Amino acid sequence: MNQEIRLRLKHLLAFLAIVLFLFFYSLSSRGCSGEQEEQAVVAEQNGRDAFLPNHKTGPTIYAVTPTYARPVQKAELTRLSHVIRLVPSVFWVIVEDAEKTSTLVTNVLKRSGLENRSVQLSAKTPTNFKLQGKDPNWLKPRGVEQRNTALKWIRQHLKRSRDAGETEPPGHSLVYFMDDDNTYSTELFDEIAKIEPGKVGVWPVGLVGGLMVEKPVLNRDGLVLGFNSAWKPERPFPLDMAGFAISSDLLLSTPEAQFSYEVERGYQESEILRHLTIVHDMQPLASGCKEVLVWHTRTETPKLDAEKALQKTNKKSNDGMEV
Ligand code: UGA
Ligand code: MN
Repeated sequence: MNQEIRLRLKHLLAFLAIVLFLFFYSLSSRGCSGEQEEQAVVAEQNGRDAFLPNHKTGPTIYAVTPTYARPVQKAELTRLSHVIRLVPSVFWVIVEDAEKTSTLVTNVLKRSGLENRSVQLSAKTPTNFKLQGKDPNWLKPRGVEQRNTALKWIRQHLKRSRDAGETEPPGHSLVYFMDDDNTYSTELFDEIAKIEPGKVGVWPVGLVGGLMVEKPVLNRDGLVLGFNSAWKPERPFPLDMAGFAISSDLLLSTPEAQFSYEVERGYQESEILRHLTIVHDMQPLASGCKEVLVWHTRTETPKLDAEKALQKTNKKSNDGMEV
């Protein structure tokens, strides 16, 4: 009998122990989620960027991005915006190939916290210069209208801030043409910041012109002699748009420097650069042009056959959603 009571007591104690354990466990995990909620509130109060660098050092780099509506546009711009968030000296000049600016692009700027260091412009490519349906993309130049609109905005903006005595040292800032589909390392912007007033900086670009890398060729003293390009090497400046940036004082002293529809395929870079520099005067960057910090990647056009079939029945997978 005694033995039986002892056994029951043991069971009771074991049961109590389990109940107590469960009670304390539930308390502690509630404490945990409470903490998370608190953290989320703090993050909201400080803005999403509380943990990001926001201390601007060095000259402003105006990054000019032409962009156009297509299924991958938001993905491309989100990728780009997250690089730009990490580099506080970049001011983003985004120019949409459209009649007017879009809420999709406004939303990208808002969500990435870049509203205060960006401008959202639009400039539609004239119909006769716009690629149509199945045109191969090399048929017509891309980004001409948009980059020229950006240059106009930058020139006016610089003149205004120079007249207001805002820049220190007067006028030193840089302009980089940053297409929306390439891949950029944040380190590239440290290199761009080294460009001296009056200079155009150059560096290698990965995966372009049929080569693993297209790069400036330097002599022993580090002077740019030319480029290793395989595609149209006879061009005055046989390099990609992603491979150079310009000291903006050159743009102010040379108002005619811009892009053009009148030039042969592959000559846009040469078209603007011929006004600004000669090859030997270009400033080599990225460890004597030995490092690749930008890649001319291109995004595959997604196959949306099932979506098109849905649309025929007046439905869509992204109803009410921005993709
Ligand atoms: C290559 C160069 O890397 C470009 O800098 C150059 O403008 C282009 O060739 C050219 O020769 O015109 P690629 O990759 O072939 O670039 O061109 P995309 O990336 O398709 O277009 C360049 C930029 O223009 C992108 O930022 C893109 O969003 C924009 N774009 C393209 C428009 O604004 N509208 C369009 O209809 C097409
Ligand atoms: Mn591209």
